Parts: sequence; C-alpha cells; structure tokens
Amino acid sequence: MKAAVRYYSRSGNTKAAAEAIAEAAGVPAVSVDAPNAALNEPVDVLFIGGALYAYGLDGHLKAYLKTLNKDMVRKAVVFSTSWLSRHSLDLIKKGLSEAGIPVEEETFYAKNRPNAAQLKDAAAFARKYL
Ligand SMILES: Cc1cc2nc3c(=O)[nH]c(=O)nc-3n(C[C@H](O)[C@H](O)[C@H](O)COP(=O)(O)O)c2cc1C
Repeated sequence: MKAAVRYYSRSGNTKAAAEAIAEAAGVPAVSVDAPNAALNEPVDVLFIGGALYAYGLDGHLKAYLKTLNKDMVRKAVVFSTSWLSRHSLDLIKKGLSEAGIPVEEETFYAKNRPNAAQLKDAAAFARKYL
C-alpha cells in the first residue's frame, strides 16, 4: 500500500493535521509548493488537505489539484481546517473529481489548529485507509 500526503497551509493549522496523518502513514507531509510535491510514482491513497480563505482555496492548492493525474492516484482522502465553514472540503473534493480521481466520502476536519486529541483522531482516521 503506497500512500502520499500533500497539503497547503498558510499558518500551520492544516500542516499540523497533515503531519499527524503522515506520521500514521509513514511518509512525509509535503507542501504542494515544495519542489518534491509532484507524485513520482502511483499511490493507492493520496491524503490531501487545505484550509479555507475568504470562502475559497489558496491558489497553490487549486493549481496543484489541476496537476493531478488520475492514473497516479487510486483514491484520494481529504482533510481540512478552517475557522467555521467546511466548504474547503467540498472544494478540494470537487477539484479531485474534476481530475477523475475517486474520492473517499469521509473526511477529517478540525476547527483552526487541531489539539492533541484531534491530532490523534487524524492519525486514527488515516489508518482506516492504509
Ligand atoms: C485571510 C483568511 C481568510 C479566511 N477565511 C475563512 C473563511 O472564509 N471561512 C472560514 O471558516 N475560515 C476562514 N479562515 C480561517 C482559516 O481557514 C483557518 O484558520 C485555517 O485553520 C487556516 O489554516 P492554515 O493554518 O493551514 O493556513 C480564514 C483565514 C484567513 C487568514
């Protein structure tokens, strides 16, 4: 089972969730604007997360979603943080669906910075798909 974790985070909240998921998966959490963000081999599960900014996704994440190739991702699993709205989850799912990538319905979400219990939940969530 090959997994990858990609995220975009402006202030570290989504990054914290990404790192908890990545630790459970035994892979690095890679920001979508990092030089090694492109998938270099097909994965069974891509965990992908971002936050909501003025009711939209950050441009880095939007651009990354457009680069994804359905032949490289068997299934995507989405996570997000935001202040209040969970719309980011829908926007990420939509981008994945537009790329033809199957998306797990269940998601992980935390309000702003995940606390210690939520980080444990994020890891347990990830393990369901590994
Ligand atoms: C400029 C800006 C706009 C935001 N707009 C929204 C919003 O429309 N709805 C919402 O629920 N949260 C909003 N938030 C809150 C962020 O989504 C939330 O703090 C998130 O956890 C930030 O994640 P990050 O630390 O990974 O960047 C906004 C935050 C910022 C800085």
